[in-house]
Amino acid sequence: MDLNARELLDKLNTEHSLSLEEYQYLLDNRDQELMDLAAEYARGFQAKHYGKQVFIRGLIEFTNFCRNNCYYCGIRRDNRDCERYRLSEDAILECANLGYELGFRTIVLQGGEDMAYSDDDICNILKAIKAAHPDMVITLSIGERDRASYEAYFKAGARRFLLRHETANPKLYAKLHPAELSWQHRMDCLKDLKDIGYQVGAGFMVESPGQTSKDLAMDLKFIEEFKPDMCGIGPFISHKQTPFAKEDSGKADTTLFCLSLIRIIYPEVLLPATTALGTIDAKGREKGILAGANVLMPNLSPTNVRKKYTLYDNKICTGEETAECINCLKGRVSSIGYEIVVNAGNRAGFEK
Ligand code: 5AD
Ligand code: FES
Repeated sequence: MDLNARELLDKLNTEHSLSLEEYQYLLDNRDQELMDLAAEYARGFQAKHYGKQVFIRGLIEFTNFCRNNCYYCGIRRDNRDCERYRLSEDAILECANLGYELGFRTIVLQGGEDMAYSDDDICNILKAIKAAHPDMVITLSIGERDRASYEAYFKAGARRFLLRHETANPKLYAKLHPAELSWQHRMDCLKDLKDIGYQVGAGFMVESPGQTSKDLAMDLKFIEEFKPDMCGIGPFISHKQTPFAKEDSGKADTTLFCLSLIRIIYPEVLLPATTALGTIDAKGREKGILAGANVLMPNLSPTNVRKKYTLYDNKICTGEETAECINCLKGRVSSIGYEIVVNAGNRAGFEK
């Protein structure tokens, strides 16, 4: 193990902060021993704030229409081979009901940036779910909208919002997205969301095309400073109908190391072991939890649309029923000595 790296990791473990250069040094000088030690420190904070509990959120992918054209994403506007679908308010409500029966007390409504759903539509969906299940905590993940819209959704009952920042480096952002998308605007959205009172989820892809260790260090610094309630990270995985079809996918190890560092940086953070991590490595989600993650987000979408919500190739769990995934996850989680719990899954220390 590189001794300077070990010293930096110990410093991070007590101070929860490093400089940009120090984060980069850790990333550049990691070996298995350092990664194991980082995971051990991460598990310490995970145990302190969450015990052996793993939270679950039900993901309802309600539309794969998207006005954007991100170079990495399979549901980008220009992908003519993507079969598009939208779920009606009734179909979404049905998913939420099923989720409730299966023990979810929090769901995520995720979709492409589909302006066919007006603010009123979104608000009506939120109100209908809250009317049926007052104790269901609803997360939105529908991309960039106006502050006034975000305020309306909050009023209608949404309490969390996931909007990955994608990368903290505006230069890399410009390589991953067409010029019509603005890094600054995305950051402004995140600030608005936090300001309105949402529990906010940020996040980024690991080893996206052109990403350097300095870029990743910038992401870690951003998490340290912005302190999102949740941080969703997973490896970049290529999709054959995108401009990045021929790019290499990210690796599980790099993702796991980042998960551990994020847990150490912000011990209370909600940290999902993502489907992308489970796709790149058959035991990715278990390894993610052992590296410090404490959230799983199984798919609650109707099975007949799942294959159409393909952000990257070979996505897992597109053929299974939700109940099957829950049972599968229960087995996976208990195999490593953790347990899935039925609750709203708030961040430790979160004040309502
Ligand atoms: N590989 C991995 N993650 C992806 N996402 C989109 N496309 C890919 C891909 N090809 C992530 C983005 C987005 C989230 C919903 O999924 O970070 O914010
Ligand atoms: Fe879906 Fe295992 S979690 S099949």
